[in-house]
Amino acid sequence: MLKIALIGLGFMGRTHLDNYLRLEKEGVPLQVTAICDIDPVKLEGPATSGNIDTASDEAVDFSRFRKYATVEEMLREEELDAVDIALPTYLHKDVSIRCLEAGLHVLCEKPMAPTAADCEEMIRAAEAAGKQLMIGQCLRFWPAYVYLKEAVEKGTFGKVTSASFFRGSGTPTWGPWLLEGDKGGGALLDMHEHDTDIVNWLFGMPDTVSCQALNVIPGSGYDIVSTNYRYGDGKVVNAQVDWTLQGDFGFEMNYRVNFEAGNVSFRGGGVQVNPGGAPGFNPELPADQGYYYELKYFAETLIAKQPLAAIPTRSTQDSIRIIEAERQSASFSGEWVEVKR
Ligand SMILES: NC(=O)c1ccc[n+]([C@@H]2O[C@H](COP(=O)([O-])OP(=O)(O)OC[C@H]3O[C@@H](n4cnc5c(N)ncnc54)[C@H](O)[C@@H]3O)[C@@H](O)[C@H]2O)c1
Repeated sequence: MLKIALIGLGFMGRTHLDNYLRLEKEGVPLQVTAICDIDPVKLEGPATSGNIDTASDEAVDFSRFRKYATVEEMLREEELDAVDIALPTYLHKDVSIRCLEAGLHVLCEKPMAPTAADCEEMIRAAEAAGKQLMIGQCLRFWPAYVYLKEAVEKGTFGKVTSASFFRGSGTPTWGPWLLEGDKGGGALLDMHEHDTDIVNWLFGMPDTVSCQALNVIPGSGYDIVSTNYRYGDGKVVNAQVDWTLQGDFGFEMNYRVNFEAGNVSFRGGGVQVNPGGAPGFNPELPADQGYYYELKYFAETLIAKQPLAAIPTRSTQDSIRIIEAERQSASFSGEWVEVKR
């Protein structure tokens, strides 16, 4: 039985909890035995709503968990195999390292950390402890993005000629840290990093980036971002984020990728494929959100005592290197900046 504790029971922590409980019910031999949050209210169960509808219909009996206000106390008292860290971003590095040093496998939410140097410390701590660290880049498990990855890798429609990615929402207000630039990193690190990671996953590291970005909310960092990624083969790649969209906008993520012989797009929750010279179609994809497949993979891989190879930490560190180049480019009004390797 894989014993897991959840650290941080806000919007994403609660989403993870619901998915683990579903996996338990489905017969995966795991158990969430403990939960930890500095906020006593979160330990009693009320869910936090975020910008994506992740709510499950199941009521959760919170009396079944042992509850902790601090990570230290939990690590002292619990016998665990793994932790799932869904804390504010500025805490990812320190808490991941503490848990790895305590001999636990770690799933830590994205973004891995604010800087590549922080990521390096996390990777080294995992190596030194002989434990596994995986970053929750959920889009790498999201069916619409998995479909795209296969099309790119298999060359189903030839080579990619252009790609654009977008995510946007109203301003997140459920966690005050999200709008403090030194804690959340702005929309650039918090939201846009999803698409930066997808660009890296699909196409590898770009040579240079040019990022135009704007701060709108005082102190939050860059709230609106548009980045061009330059590759040796000349494909035209862009990703944008905006978390200042008002009114009833809600949340949206989409992509449009053009190949030599067709295009694949994801809009309004559905994937549309238009092969050149043949009728377009909507592929039938698995119905669940990426969180479910991500956590299933994490738990089942640990249970099978296999390496968590689907999301190598060196690759998620590279995504943060790209973000660093984007941040630098934005501070130079969009000048092209080389991505460090
Ligand atoms: N994968 C995704 O799609 C996705 C979506 C949203 C958020 N996230 C990421 O998940 C992380 C958490 O975001 P969120 O929206 O859930 O934030 P949140 O503010 O809703 O939740 C954070 C929780 O951590 C708790 N906390 C804060 N400091 C603590 C401490 N020292 N010890 C114990 N608990 C503490 C807070 O009380 C809160 O319950 C962030 O890194 C964010 O970028 C990922």
